[in-house]
Amino acid sequence: MLKRTHTCNELKAAEIGQVICLNGWVKSRRDHGGLLFIDLRDRYGLTQIVFNPQTNKSLHQAGEQLKPEYVIAVKGTVKQRPDGTVNPKLDTGEIEVAVTELEVLSASATPPFEIEGDDLPSSEIRLKYRYIDIRRQEMKDNLINRHRITQAIRGYFDRHGFIDLETPYLTKSTPEGARDYLVPSRMFPGQFFALPQSPQLFKQLFMVAGMDKYFQIVRCFRDADLRSERQPEFTQVDVEMSFVDEKDVQGIVEGMATEIFDRVLNKKLETPFKTITYQEAMASYGTDKPDLRFGLPLVEVTDLMKGIDFKVFQSVIKQGGIIKGLKAKRKDPFSRKDIDGLTELVKEYGAKGLVALKVENGKLSGAVAKFFKPEVQAELIKKLDAGDGDLVMMVADQPGVANLSLAALRNHLGEKLGLIKSGEFNFCWVVDFPLFVLDQETKKLTSKHHPFTAPHADDLARLEQEPLTVKARAYDLVLNGEEVAGGSIRIHSAELQQKIFKLLGISDSEAKEKFGFLLEAFKYGVPPHGGIAIGLDRFVRLLLGRASIREVIPFPKTTSSQCLLTGAPEKVDQKQLDELGLDLKDKK
Ligand code: AMO
Ligand code: AMP
Repeated sequence: MLKRTHTCNELKAAEIGQVICLNGWVKSRRDHGGLLFIDLRDRYGLTQIVFNPQTNKSLHQAGEQLKPEYVIAVKGTVKQRPDGTVNPKLDTGEIEVAVTELEVLSASATPPFEIEGDDLPSSEIRLKYRYIDIRRQEMKDNLINRHRITQAIRGYFDRHGFIDLETPYLTKSTPEGARDYLVPSRMFPGQFFALPQSPQLFKQLFMVAGMDKYFQIVRCFRDADLRSERQPEFTQVDVEMSFVDEKDVQGIVEGMATEIFDRVLNKKLETPFKTITYQEAMASYGTDKPDLRFGLPLVEVTDLMKGIDFKVFQSVIKQGGIIKGLKAKRKDPFSRKDIDGLTELVKEYGAKGLVALKVENGKLSGAVAKFFKPEVQAELIKKLDAGDGDLVMMVADQPGVANLSLAALRNHLGEKLGLIKSGEFNFCWVVDFPLFVLDQETKKLTSKHHPFTAPHADDLARLEQEPLTVKARAYDLVLNGEEVAGGSIRIHSAELQQKIFKLLGISDSEAKEKFGFLLEAFKYGVPPHGGIAIGLDRFVRLLLGRASIREVIPFPKTTSSQCLLTGAPEKVDQKQLDELGLDLKDKK
């Protein structure tokens, strides 16, 4: 084989006159006045190679047989491109290679889609032929940049004294709120490993073991209902540290982000990041992952609406609901149709409707304006800080639905009104989460983060009587309205940990069975510790400005957790089932 002497992005004016070899894929073929031009592509870039029938007729004929995606090796001489054909956009745009030898290393069938075209095929086709999809420049850049980001992360943690340690994948359930992926054991029929939802328990055990500072870039497995920003297996940058408080952990993450921005994105990041409490975030933005790139704060007006004669609001207030709203302005006023569109949007999130009123000459106008007395109108305009030309929008509902729908409305308006500057990265820490939330179905307490999160010391006295008022020493990192990391200071006392299990409705025997090894470890000297996990796929996706995490994962799964490339999951032989002692139920 003609082994390459250079990559397809290497040859410049300095190499003119040299005899070289290139290996790569045929990107495209053009015939110009008898000359045959081929753009040869590899990971690094493109080089134009030329077959001249005048100098070698049979070689030119062989060149004409080449089709896109053929893999070839060529030998030739580097030449200056003729005047007027230099391509300044290309690193190799000054030169071309006059081919003297050609070897076809492998032919290619016509690819299922055009690699160079702007028209992308369906995501199903892209995933089925991912190896071809990755030949596209954008996908290649995504994966190479992901590599650069993970390398920056590894270097950063190494320099800060963190040890990269691996944790088992065949393990016991680690509760992070999703279903487990189970792996049957052949040696112990009827028994199962669970793939870890995170390395949470092991990283805490590393602290008990005295490793002090741990990190790992690690795969996590969660069988959850997938939305676009979730994958059944995804990657975390997992971190744990001993003898630390919240600020220490946050500082390490801020340092990591600063370094990535500096080294990979060539951007300056301002630290420390803003901090907002969970309560403030819910009150002003209706969500615990607020997009702070724009304003449009939500304002609660339940008290103001208590006296008004509007049935919709009164019945909601009677049922313990709230009324919340926001105002927005647009150059050309919102039309009836726009308002119908906004109403449909909040309805998608469970709201029953949207009151939308225009502010004109200091007064409200609109279908239901008549229900609002002048004093109420004036007060509402004041509370929402609205002015003439603004549209005032309100939802009345239980707090959950009111917040959810208004948060979606706010994000929609932020984007549609052009309030988001492109290229902005807005980080914020969200802190003081509640330790528990009430599961609406079971009416049982569940952990807002996970059961190993420490409560605020000041709230400990209320743990048993008023558990829902207890705050957690947890922190989430939000970037442009998306949760990119979550962590906490942990419980490091077996007694408190058992108390939490009990409040979560986990009996002593169940706690012993599931987490006995952790409680046992807590007997032998546990340092106070805390940590965090950064969702690497989401983080990389946001940093690179891509539409979905699937764009930055080499071989992602579909939203129904299938791998279209390999066809997994798949049926297995009866023999394998027998070995595992498994019988399948008939599932319709
Ligand atoms: P948490 O469950 O918040 O914390 O996960 C940490 C981060 O991982 C990302 N993430 C996901 N990314 C893609 N697909 C998913 N299905 C998915 N689920 C989560 C998110 C999230 O912020 N053990 C704790 C961390 C700790 O306490 O140290 C944990 O796993 O960006
Ligand atoms: P209705 O009386 O149901 O026709 O509603 C009158 C107006 O109030 C319509 O503009 C609805 O979109 C709006 N609306 C109805 N229910 C709610 C609600 N829960 N919150 C806010 N607006 C509502």
